[in-house]
Amino acid sequence: MTLAMELIKPMDTSRPVFPHKHLTGIAPLAADDITTILNIAQDYANMTAEGGRPERTLKGKVILNLFFEDSTRTRTSFEMASKRLGAEVINWNMKTSSINKGETFMDTVRTLDAMHPDAIVIRHSEYGAPDYVAKRVSCPVLNAGDSWREHPTQALLDALTLRQYFGKLDGLTVAIVGDIAHSRVAASNMHLLTKMGATVRLVAPPVLLPEKAPVDGIAMFTSLAEGLPGADAVMTIRPQKERMDDALIEDASYFHDYGMTHEKLNLAGPDAVLLDPGPFLRGLMIDDDMADDKTRFLYDRQVSNGVFARMAALDLLVGG
Ligand code: NCD
Repeated sequence: MTLAMELIKPMDTSRPVFPHKHLTGIAPLAADDITTILNIAQDYANMTAEGGRPERTLKGKVILNLFFEDSTRTRTSFEMASKRLGAEVINWNMKTSSINKGETFMDTVRTLDAMHPDAIVIRHSEYGAPDYVAKRVSCPVLNAGDSWREHPTQALLDALTLRQYFGKLDGLTVAIVGDIAHSRVAASNMHLLTKMGATVRLVAPPVLLPEKAPVDGIAMFTSLAEGLPGADAVMTIRPQKERMDDALIEDASYFHDYGMTHEKLNLAGPDAVLLDPGPFLRGLMIDDDMADDKTRFLYDRQVSNGVFARMAALDLLVGG
């Protein structure tokens, strides 16, 4: 063997190709990228179901969670995912940070970046904040939700849940019901589901429908009776009152017209299932019977899949 041949290492074919440094949204991803993430997430789901432990692909890495907005599920889920893969996690706390002394957002990020985290997970109320940060730091950035723009890992965990339940995404019809105008979850789902060959419908009172959907060709309806028939799955979206300038809805009439009950879910069909990213509000978005029906309301499965989807994303961007 010549020296030149010895120096050429065999190509590592064990790691799938993922041609992105960051995960700031679903919009920049190709269908193949989405499939790659979902397949890895499914491997983690299978391994966990069999009682196995994942390889520590993030051992020695430090992940910085930067949450500028409240979060229960997403922050804990990212932390769980990071730790399952062997990383250490720092949960930066906005309430005790120098932002409160007048430091700018970007100077805070610059300071934290100078400590060389291996990845930054960011949630922020400003439109496009994760992309802004991604251009200015040296590590991968994962978007944990920005404004009403994108929440990519939520859409990935929803897709994983739908793919497990139906065995496919292509050809499904998903009706998104609720505050679509203010929802990053709805936006990322519209991108993801249409890229994967599913049909999306939007159902909401006129004030909560977007003027224009972020993806072309999405039908909009103002009543469940029009928008639900034939849908395989319904996804409810919380009225995001914190993002409304005025009170746009009245709770009792919202529940009457859009609150999910078995009767309303059956408008889609007897086999239709319900998803919700959480937090779901009982008595406003979903009635108790529906919320406690673990056969047709896939919420718990979504939360479990959140960890697997985030493990997959972290593994692809930070692992190895
Ligand atoms: C959502 C969010 O914060 O974008 N929750 C979540 O991440 N699971 C939706 C919401 O707050 O209603």
